[in-house]
Amino acid sequence: MSIQKPKGTQDLLPGEVEKWQYLESQARKLCRSFNYKEVRTPVFEHTELFARGVGETTDIVEKEMYTFLDKGDRSISLRPEGTAGVVRAYVENKLYGEPDVSKLYYIGPMFRYEQPQAGRYRQFHQFGVEAFGSVDPAIDAEVIALGYTFYKEIGLRNVSVEINSVGTPEVRAAYKEQLQQFFAPVREQLCKDCQSRFERNPMRILDCKIDHKLGEGAPNILQHLDEACSTHFAAVQEHLQGMGIPFTVNPRMVRGLDYYTHTAFEYKSAGIGAIDTIGGGGRYNGLVGQIGGNDQPGVGLGLGLERILLVLANQGVEVPKPDTLGVYLIGLGEAAEKETAKLLYKLRLQGVSAERDYQGRKIKAQMKSADRMQAQFVAILGDDELAKGEIAVKTMATGEQRTVRIADLEERAATILFG
Ligand code: HAM
Repeated sequence: MSIQKPKGTQDLLPGEVEKWQYLESQARKLCRSFNYKEVRTPVFEHTELFARGVGETTDIVEKEMYTFLDKGDRSISLRPEGTAGVVRAYVENKLYGEPDVSKLYYIGPMFRYEQPQAGRYRQFHQFGVEAFGSVDPAIDAEVIALGYTFYKEIGLRNVSVEINSVGTPEVRAAYKEQLQQFFAPVREQLCKDCQSRFERNPMRILDCKIDHKLGEGAPNILQHLDEACSTHFAAVQEHLQGMGIPFTVNPRMVRGLDYYTHTAFEYKSAGIGAIDTIGGGGRYNGLVGQIGGNDQPGVGLGLGLERILLVLANQGVEVPKPDTLGVYLIGLGEAAEKETAKLLYKLRLQGVSAERDYQGRKIKAQMKSADRMQAQFVAILGDDELAKGEIAVKTMATGEQRTVRIADLEERAATILFG
């Protein structure tokens, strides 16, 4: 039997991959406007980084990591998300020593051993940003605005922004007790996952699709925030309003990673089966210290690119297509063929995308190839033209034909062809 790709992975073939390139280029453009700089970290890290960073009791670390021993008996994991690795790089490279806030972005594959379904893969891709070194609520709002603007600029409609404050660890400890008291009488009725969450992380019960009803009337975290948390959260909202970013406050929103403090947020859009979260993030003030660094606050987001493409397709949004082939070059006769090989290279050196036949096919088949490649021009060189130092150029959109000098084409193809 032939070998197939692992479950939950995708091949991105020509035709599809251009959409990815478009998303990536839009992400880079946006990061330039917001002044975030690219960082590239390894796709695998020491397992301990994720255990310490993402949280030992999260589903991600407990159940979903691709973990293995390398030949040196070190426990290694494929990164399930981008934040922990970027924090490690920030600490290891002492970026905290820089005078300005470090504003970083990344685009790349992440790995989670999850049950694949529409919008859920085992290898997926995130566009993420992380900003270190500021507790200013303006930067929480900036990050939320960046994600929202990204969706808008690529043409995604009906994206909603939900925000919450998950407080500080101290606030959460007191709130957890309240939640446990609330859920204690119905503990036996909770789903299996939530029964184990009851002790370890009762906030996640609020987020459970199965136990949603049992959580009705549960204590609201926003009423348990201390003054500093409330002030921060109010300021984030004020900044969002100032930028005209629509949002709703959802006090039941709990993220699946343990590192959040203060602001947590998610972007939602319907249209991928049961899944409606297309991105999320938040502030993580203790994480840098936990990873072993000079403690610095941070805030960031991660947007799933597969989910964005699924919603775009569902909404019928076409992403702009890249330019098609510039010139398809046809040589008729032995001498002309040799000359076209040279000319082809010279066109390419000038940045004109150019192609030819490599299978010795008749002119008719070559013209068909030019059509399939949507060539803007077909240039045909016969021995007669060659003798005169000329070549026939046909503009495919209009059918118009003209004769141009080969030497001119070799020197200034773009001007001659595209005017
Ligand atoms: P997350 O909510 O776990 O956050 O993931 C962010 C986004 O990645 C999700 O909203 C979703 O679009 C996408 N995603 C997650 N898992 C899958 C999957 N199995 N298949 C397809 N897409 C998926 C984080 O990862 C945090 N690191 C975000 C962050 C950055 N917070 C602060 N900074």
